[in-house]
Formats: sequence, C-alpha cells, structure tokens
Amino acid sequence: MSSDSAVGAGRTPRAKLTAPMIVEMKRRGEPVAVVTAYDFPTARLADQAGAEILLVGDSVGTVLLGYDSTLPVSMADILHHTRAVTRARTSALVVADMPFMSYQVSVEQAVENAGRLIQEGGADAVKLEGGERVAAAVRRMVEIGIPVMGHLGLTPQSVLAMGGYRVQARGEADQERLLKEAKLLEECGCFSIVLESIPARLGSEVSRALHVPTIGIGAGVGCDGQVLVSNDLLGLYHGRTAKFVRRYAELGDMVRGAFERYVADVKARRFPGDAESY
Ligand code: KIV
Repeated sequence: MSSDSAVGAGRTPRAKLTAPMIVEMKRRGEPVAVVTAYDFPTARLADQAGAEILLVGDSVGTVLLGYDSTLPVSMADILHHTRAVTRARTSALVVADMPFMSYQVSVEQAVENAGRLIQEGGADAVKLEGGERVAAAVRRMVEIGIPVMGHLGLTPQSVLAMGGYRVQARGEADQERLLKEAKLLEECGCFSIVLESIPARLGSEVSRALHVPTIGIGAGVGCDGQVLVSNDLLGLYHGRTAKFVRRYAELGDMVRGAFERYVADVKARRFPGDAESY
C-alpha cells in the first residue's frame, strides 16, 4: 500500500502554504493547526489531515531518539528529520527547529545554521527559542529572507537554568517581560511565536497585542493557533507528558498489541501460513 492510499486520497489538494499566508490567517480569525513531525509517513498523514504547519521540533530528541532532554539534539539530527518531512509534505509549511548551540554563539553562526536548514533541509522557516537574546539573529535572518518563528515562555533548551519544566511567567514582572519580548520578536520580523506553558490569561493578552499569530502549547485557548507534539497526541510516547496534552489516539497500545500477536503467531507457527510458496 502506498503512503498516499490510506488517508487523503480524493481530497482536494491545498495550495502550498507560505509564512505570509500564516500571518493572513490571523487577520481572518482562522486558527492555525500545528503538529510536530519527524518522519515521512507521519508528516504525510498530518499534511493530508489539514495541519497548516509541520514543526520538525527538537522534541525529536526526547520522543524519538531516547534522550532525556532536547539538549543533545544536533544540526545533523534536525537536518536528517527535516529532509524526511519536506519530502512528504505537499501543502503544509515546514518549520525546522534550531537545536541547542546552533544559534547562541553569534549572529553569524545563527544565520549560517538557519540557512543550512533552508538550503540543505528544504525547510520553509526556522524556529528558535528566546526573546531579547536572539533578537539580533532574528532580525538578520528575516533581512536575508528566512522566515522565523519565535518561542517564548517555557523554552526547553534552558531546562538547566530553569531547574525543570515548569509553568513560566506566573508573576507580574515576568509577564510584562514576556509581553515586551513578544512585541520585540514581532518587530524583528517573526511571522509567528510559540507560547509554551504560560498562564492562559497571558496567552490571550499576548495574542491580542500582536499582529502575527501566537501558537500555544499549554498557553490557553486564546492563542491564535495550537501546537502539540504528534507522539503525545497519538498516544505513542510514554515519558513525561504535560497536563494540557490531549490524546486523540492510543497508538502505543495498538502497536504493542500488534507486535504481541505477531510474536505469538511466530512462536505457534501460525505465521507464515501453510501455502507452499508466495
Ligand atoms: O520541539 C518542539 O516540539 C517544540 C514544540 C513543543 C513547540 O518546540
């Protein structure tokens, strides 16, 4: 069975989405659906299902590669997975996450690595974490034509400094700073900004203050779009999952059950069947 035949066959093809089209969705009041994708089959299914953005997140490190944080994820990892995702998508915008230490050293290093994700990975845009500390790099990327998605609130690449994965910006001063940084990222040219694990009221306030869409993950329904890690959404990840995650399937149980039946069939010599040849 080809990867196209199961889902999506016969659907009207969508136009190829661009960063300005994502900004335009906010003007029309249309929510933006974002999911992470790391491989060809999942990316194809999410694209066919109508997700506007496929994010090749550095969450690949924890959900696929078995690391306990995103810190060990490398440019080579993100490039490898971005290529698989861009080969699969027909319409969705592909955003490649810039891994830890690929953009923090200097503006030159950041721009060069962002360029590699576009040129070698085929991504349509890049994402990086932080506000003021990445503003100069964002500005330069945008100047040379690379669409950039920002990321504020809980920024998992700062887990060591934050002392764990906790809701951010609970106090008034932190909330003011986050709002200021969101405005700064918009001014630097970001076409959208992920808001992760912040109070819902703040998610709404930031969304109202910006012209570009906010993409929430644990930031409330007032954001202009939502993002979930696909393995969480599909019930395929059994590590730490945040309270806001909603599971739309229990594929982990289904897959284990299928493996168990296969193993049992092999042990009982029920597989393969008794035909003399195939
Ligand atoms: O890496 C990732 O999956 C992300 C999302 C959670 C926004 O950054």
